[in-house]
Amino acid sequence: MTILVTGGAGYIGSHCVQQLISVGHKVCVIDNLSRGHREAVSPQASFFQLDLLETERLTEIMKSQRIEKVIHFAALAYVGESVKNPLPYYTNNTAGTLSLLRAMQHSQVSQIVFSSSCATYGISANVPVTEESPQSPINPYGWSKLFIEQILRDCAHSDPNFGFIGLRYFNVAGCTHDGSLGEDHMPETHLIPNCLNTALGQQSQVTILGDDYPTEDGTCIRDYIHVEDICAAHLLALNALEPNINRFYNIGLGHGYSVLEVVKTTEQVTGSKIPIEYRPRRPGDPPILAASNEKISKELGWSPKYTSLKDIIQTAWDWFQSHPHGYQTQTGSSSEKKLKDD
Ligand code: UFG
Repeated sequence: MTILVTGGAGYIGSHCVQQLISVGHKVCVIDNLSRGHREAVSPQASFFQLDLLETERLTEIMKSQRIEKVIHFAALAYVGESVKNPLPYYTNNTAGTLSLLRAMQHSQVSQIVFSSSCATYGISANVPVTEESPQSPINPYGWSKLFIEQILRDCAHSDPNFGFIGLRYFNVAGCTHDGSLGEDHMPETHLIPNCLNTALGQQSQVTILGDDYPTEDGTCIRDYIHVEDICAAHLLALNALEPNINRFYNIGLGHGYSVLEVVKTTEQVTGSKIPIEYRPRRPGDPPILAASNEKISKELGWSPKYTSLKDIIQTAWDWFQSHPHGYQTQTGSSSEKKLKDD
């Protein structure tokens, strides 16, 4: 099958492209390289550098490449940044998806797997969170994804040929088991990479953003899920896609770890002491997020291969040690690009 992967040069997208190719799919990647890395894209995929908002070019590519299904990763995904600078999140994520859906319509492609987020739940009363839990985001990133979820429901309602599966990721972590692909963000805001960069001596300490949350040790709890397990869920979703399908699934392990537990586990994996400093909470951060994964396990037969935080961090540590400067790309990691609407 020929699959269009948007954001295929990004962290999760590039891992997924590799898995799609390994099971025999033909893959076409589009990415604007604002945050992704050309080097991360498999040489076996065709690559087009363009923005999701370029509807006409997108349509031409979908037609000429004979795209059959879409996996849509491309998005800005920093919670803190979205609070400070919301408009690029709505432009890139929400309007960008509208443009993609129009291009799909113009080229008669009607099936899509969409990367949604646990950020759509906001502060949930139930942990672990089920797919039926109320969705009330507390940051613009979460809203930008929730709006897309509604747009997809409306498309499915109006067109019997349209089918989608939305995957709500919890905290994606780790790198490929064979060390071929990794995690390289600029700016880097994620907890595990910051801990590993500290262990490598590239930063002096890890900042803990809030120790007054209503959790046992006062730091936020997140459900960390290995990137290869996320990709496996995409492959299952792709196979389950058909006209009229309209479903959302959580992907997480079902339990979380506090920020302090992540720091301690990273110390065990790396054998290095990680100095910490405490700062106030980061606006937009919910105290606890953990996924119920019963639905995807039952309906798609998904089960995670990585169930230990230590093993997840180990895969990331292996890549960080072999790539201390990430992909060293000219396009993504060497300079932070300006966001649309800046
Ligand atoms: N944190 C720190 N110090 C850091 C970095 C993070 O204390 O240096 C804390 C955060 O405040 C948060 C936790 O560690 O409580 C995890 O933060 P990350 O930045 O690693 O991940 P987020 O939970 O903010 O974000 C991730 C994804 C988003 C997704 C979100 C859902 O990056 O795409 O989970 O909440 F939407």
